[in-house]
Amino acid sequence: MKALITAGGRGTRLRPITHTSNKHLIPIANKPMIHYAIEAVVAAGIQEIGIVVNPETEAELREALGGGAPWGAKITYISQETPAGLAHVIKISEDFIKKEPFVFYLGDNVIVGGIGHFVKTFVADKAHCHLVLSKVKDPQRFGVPELRNGRIIGIEEKPKRPKSPYAVTGIYIYDHHIFEAVNKIGPSKRGELEISDAHQYLIENGFGISYSEITGWWKDTGQPEDLLEANRFVLDQIAESPDGISIDGEVDAKSELRGKVIIEKGAKVVQSQVRGPAIIGAGTRIENSYIGPYTSIYHDCEIKNSELEYSIVLERCRITDIDVRIEKSLLGREVELFRGMARPRTQKFVIGDQSRIELS
Ligand code: G1P
Repeated sequence: MKALITAGGRGTRLRPITHTSNKHLIPIANKPMIHYAIEAVVAAGIQEIGIVVNPETEAELREALGGGAPWGAKITYISQETPAGLAHVIKISEDFIKKEPFVFYLGDNVIVGGIGHFVKTFVADKAHCHLVLSKVKDPQRFGVPELRNGRIIGIEEKPKRPKSPYAVTGIYIYDHHIFEAVNKIGPSKRGELEISDAHQYLIENGFGISYSEITGWWKDTGQPEDLLEANRFVLDQIAESPDGISIDGEVDAKSELRGKVIIEKGAKVVQSQVRGPAIIGAGTRIENSYIGPYTSIYHDCEIKNSELEYSIVLERCRITDIDVRIEKSLLGREVELFRGMARPRTQKFVIGDQSRIELS
């Protein structure tokens, strides 16, 4: 079995971060999001992985993931020149997949508990396609199945009136008949080859589709709020693991750590309070500050005289003398937030396109 992981897309809802970086490299609990997908497929016993990229960020992804050696995997990069839909992603990957069954994994989906059991069910069911469903509050945002007597009898993409409370999640397993489907369907109203149309083709042409339901946690991380939630969830998982506080950096006697806190190598915590679950990245310095639960601070940041909670901070940010607590925030790389001392006291901004700032 092989795996195909998507790492393309334009990440429009995560601008401005995605103006300069691929969304799949945004860290969740200080690990690039796409690592979770790679780890999940490798844990399911798959080593041959195709990663589908777009030309703009291909170099960045190749640099970040290389040939796959750290995971014992072999990564092949497949370039999607135009964002023409998920079924198009499959279409252009036929040379890589050949006739083998494969897992198709949307690289921005974060799921807990791995995918091994879905692969086993697909094999046991002898199905042509296995879909993974999750009950959601807002099915109209997703592909939605219509179920009858334990079978999927139809799938619609982002329907206004969903026929069930389920989303088809971004973890799919197929045999080679999916190539027939993606080659037969035409573009949707938004001009894309929709994955849901390919599934509908399989159903209409008598190919067996089986499914599993995710009862645990699953998230499609399209928006900043989703990333913060995924970060919270992954940090909670870490907090439940048996190891206690893990400190590879330095914490001075005047600092206090509570709950599950990870202090990575070379990080320094000085006169500060850190309440877990939280992770402080390598080489980051926290001084006279408060870091609250569900916060991930990536490497080489500096936080001084400030308070931060339920946030993700990317590498090399500097936050100094901010006297309101920063919360529910996503800070891109090398962001600087500081208090100016000059009079008159005004707010000054140098902000990238499509940034979002909420002042109180
Ligand atoms: C895509 C699929 C949709 C699926 C979802 C899962 O939607 O088109 O069928 O339910 O992924 O994450 P998108 O995230 O591109 O809107």
